[in-house]
Amino acid sequence: MSGPVLSFRDVWVEYGEKIVLEKVTLDVAEGSFVSIVGPSGAGKSTFLRLVLGQEAPSRGRVLLDGEPLHAEPDADRGVVFQRYSVFPHMSALDNVVFGLECARAPLLGRLFGARRKAARDEAAAMLAHVGLGDSLDIFPREMSGGMQQRLAIAQALIKRPRILLLDEPFGALDPGVRLDMHALITGLWREHGLTILMVTHDIKEAFVLGTRVMAFDKRRRDPQAPHRYGATVVYDFPLDDKKKRAVPAELEAMPEAVE
Ligand SMILES: Nc1ncnc2c1ncn2[C@@H]1O[C@H](COP(=O)(O)OP(=O)(O)O)[C@@H](O)[C@H]1O
Ligand SMILES: [Mg+2]
Repeated sequence: MSGPVLSFRDVWVEYGEKIVLEKVTLDVAEGSFVSIVGPSGAGKSTFLRLVLGQEAPSRGRVLLDGEPLHAEPDADRGVVFQRYSVFPHMSALDNVVFGLECARAPLLGRLFGARRKAARDEAAAMLAHVGLGDSLDIFPREMSGGMQQRLAIAQALIKRPRILLLDEPFGALDPGVRLDMHALITGLWREHGLTILMVTHDIKEAFVLGTRVMAFDKRRRDPQAPHRYGATVVYDFPLDDKKKRAVPAELEAMPEAVE
């Protein structure tokens, strides 16, 4: 458990002539909350796809617990996107049960009988945990943006991932709702001992939530050939323990803030 949970070793991502990421080398300690910032197109989502195993590096290595990362989707890693993470034709409960089915019975498909009942109970408990205990039977279209993101988080967390990937998860939400979501995610991170990698456009959000802030950008540019060089980690700020452990005052005031 002492080694990094995730390691990138000289990782490149290239699409033909186009270089998206170059020379990305980093380690992520278990339990950290890494905020990732950088201009649009810098390869932040590509970086998360590498962690998910949805994409393979064109050069270099991605290691999970020191072992080469497997390409198949893995219950070790859950993901929440800005939008469209949940299935519109399923109720909140069914969305979360589906998450469980994917994690527990990827080959068997749907659960039946007593196992299905247990899965529904577990999903209902997770929904209550993210503040949707009264909304089990409603559909995503009947939910606010904040509720949909709570649902997406419940769907990801029910798989009990060790690493949670968040790709601009709160970007579409109103400021007040974002604060609620900050309190929720901070609480879940601590409670479940998660390692979180979160892409955000909001630099303040990056510093408030993260134990580390990483910025992706190109170190060099060729005006004649914009894709000649890729982006890499250009800043990497560890935040001090005080900042890391103190619940920011704005979160402390929230009803759902933990502790
Ligand atoms: N399959 C692909 N083929 C070609 N280019 C791609 C592909 N996927 C992503 N890209 C390019 O990679 C770059 C980085 O994209 P992305 O990781 O989505 O950036 P970010 O999330 O930082 O905005 C963009 O220029 C994008 O067009
Ligand atoms: Mg992106």
